[in-house]
Amino acid sequence: MPEKFYITTPIYYVNASPHIGHSYTTVAADTIARFMRGRIGKENVLFLTGTDEHGQKVQRAAEEAGVAVREFTDRTSGKFRDLWQALNIQYDDFIRTTEQRHIEAVQKVLTMLYDKGDIFQSKYEGLYCTPCETFWTGTQAEDGLCPDCKRKLESISETNFFFNLSKYQEALMKHIASHPGFIRPRIRENEVMSFLEHNRLSDLCISRPKERLGWGIPLPFSPDHVTYVWFDALINYISAIGFARDRKKFDKFWPADIHIMAKDILRQHAIYWPIMLMALGEKLPEVVFAHGWWKIDEKKMSKSLGNVVDPYAMVEKYGVEAYRYFLLREVQFGFDGNFSEEALVKRVNSDLANDLGNLAHRSATMLEKYCAGKLPEKGGAFPADFDKALKELPEAVEAFMLEYNFSAALEKIWGLINKANKYIEDTKPWALAKEKKDKELYLFLNLLVEVIKTVAAALAALMPQASQKLLKQFSAPEIKKGEPLFPRIETN
Ligand code: ME8
Ligand code: MG
Repeated sequence: MPEKFYITTPIYYVNASPHIGHSYTTVAADTIARFMRGRIGKENVLFLTGTDEHGQKVQRAAEEAGVAVREFTDRTSGKFRDLWQALNIQYDDFIRTTEQRHIEAVQKVLTMLYDKGDIFQSKYEGLYCTPCETFWTGTQAEDGLCPDCKRKLESISETNFFFNLSKYQEALMKHIASHPGFIRPRIRENEVMSFLEHNRLSDLCISRPKERLGWGIPLPFSPDHVTYVWFDALINYISAIGFARDRKKFDKFWPADIHIMAKDILRQHAIYWPIMLMALGEKLPEVVFAHGWWKIDEKKMSKSLGNVVDPYAMVEKYGVEAYRYFLLREVQFGFDGNFSEEALVKRVNSDLANDLGNLAHRSATMLEKYCAGKLPEKGGAFPADFDKALKELPEAVEAFMLEYNFSAALEKIWGLINKANKYIEDTKPWALAKEKKDKELYLFLNLLVEVIKTVAAALAALMPQASQKLLKQFSAPEIKKGEPLFPRIETN
């Protein structure tokens, strides 16, 4: 068991408000962080999220909004923090790339790599995509359009600074080959490996001339240049834990146990970032996990496509816990999924209102009715299959959680919920009561309470609020029906 756990989300761009895609990564990270806190203690887990605030995209968004860039970034960064609060996200730290602790770390990295000769000056002539902040060669973009976003490229010619990626290409390939599971899921590992096998990495341009882009961190050795936004952003993972200021904290938490992101930014995390760390002489993260995309009608949900869904609207309509449940349950972590309210409503009604909600409600109702809310003596042994299922559940759920397979963990938990619901139907407790078979009835009620408590404990990280409520309700000296946990959503 690790004695510390450091988990990160990407730091999100502040050019627009957060959407469901961003909330997905952060909910997943929050779930893992809660799970790990339960295993190794709160003080040993560090869950970092934050905002990526430099670069042309952000600068332009501020201009378009007619607001000073600093005010604009303050405002949008705040929107992310507000959303995390609304979604019951318990992060330990929130880093902004405009903070001094981050700027110091970026300048420290730049200086170290420049002194080492891994960053050098050179002239660049070619094509450039402003929205993506990416350079392209004529052969990569024959039609003059950005291969990624399909927008028109600009021709530029300028002196810049470059980071010698290719120097470390073999070392990175060796690392990937000797650390299965470093890049997850497997399909992403294969993708990265195959890319590295077929391409010689070109040097990464890590600067932008200040006259073209003022909104960035100046290079310490060339103040007429600012740092390329990706080179700046990736460093957040070490700046937040004290790379420049607090080596003790840094040594406690580094390397990261898992960086989570979606597959759109896998290359930056699986190639650039590990190479930056190698050049710095620091350890590489344990896991780089690239999950899939939420899509709408087969298209990736994204700001640039303008098909985003507002997470607040979903939370308002369905509740935080139902929303989080849907994200974790609907698709296996790592795969793409289609987002629709219809699917969300279906999940809420069938899994939450019906399966879990009814089990809790029926159980509490029977306890009220047959024994005034006081759980009677068990007075016997549970059926062997239930005994086994109850014992197995925590371990099975834990194993899935350690693989970051939330949907499988939930499926396993629902297996027990449904087994109990079926048992209620088969046992017909109302008949037991009528026939005054008290012994059987009491054992039966004890079984239901045991199932609910086991389910609630297994849900601690996955559905923190429901888990707490159920544990409280069913551990109370007097168990009461109360309000339904998840009301049915009426559709027409
Ligand atoms: O890329 N489905 O920020 P970003 C699933 N600042 N996840 C999605 C998603 C979707 N449709 N859309 C976005 C950046 N995401 C950089 C990161 S890190 C050093 C710098 C999530 O605001 C997912 O985690 O474009 C994706 O990788 C991230 O938001 C991109 O956020
Ligand atoms: Mg993006």
